[in-house]
Amino acid sequence: ATSIPADDRVPDMGKRELMNLLLLGALSLPTAGMLVPYASFFVPPGSGSGSGGTVAKDALGNDVIASEWIKIHGPGDRTLTQGLKGDPTYLVVEPDRTIATYGINAVCTHLGCVVPWNAAENKFICPCHGSQYNNQGKVVRGPAPLSLALAHADIDDGKVLFVPWVETDFRTGENPWWA
Ligand code: FES
Repeated sequence: ATSIPADDRVPDMGKRELMNLLLLGALSLPTAGMLVPYASFFVPPGSGSGSGGTVAKDALGNDVIASEWIKIHGPGDRTLTQGLKGDPTYLVVEPDRTIATYGINAVCTHLGCVVPWNAAENKFICPCHGSQYNNQGKVVRGPAPLSLALAHADIDDGKVLFVPWVETDFRTGENPWWA
């Protein structure tokens, strides 16, 4: 329904990364005790992988085991994990208690805030400037210009493996802006 000028489709990556750094700095400031968990959450050691896939990590930095995750995260759950390139990425639990085959990158496409899940509203609502995304991360209210990025969430050897999503965005039918 909305048509966005082609020139506006590519977000300013430099600005986004700067905002992430600023956010990380802000999160790390409050107490020294918070610094360690946040640092390990967002900047894990040895997270590089040549295959293009990255095992999802939980808030403690541990690999996400699909069967264990399902035990503590019920249908409809959306919880942050660490995804590709260290980006905070939501793992989605489907109504049938399986992990969805897609993860949702939590970085707001406006200016890069991490967007929280609001279960009561069944939306992701950005606290920075009020952008809203539906429960699959499709933008439904600006100022965000684009939907949240996707990643494939595969199960590999029992672990959740994020793999870059380069195919059509199933929510919009368009090519992925992030690929
Ligand atoms: Fe999310 Fe501005 S950064 S609405």
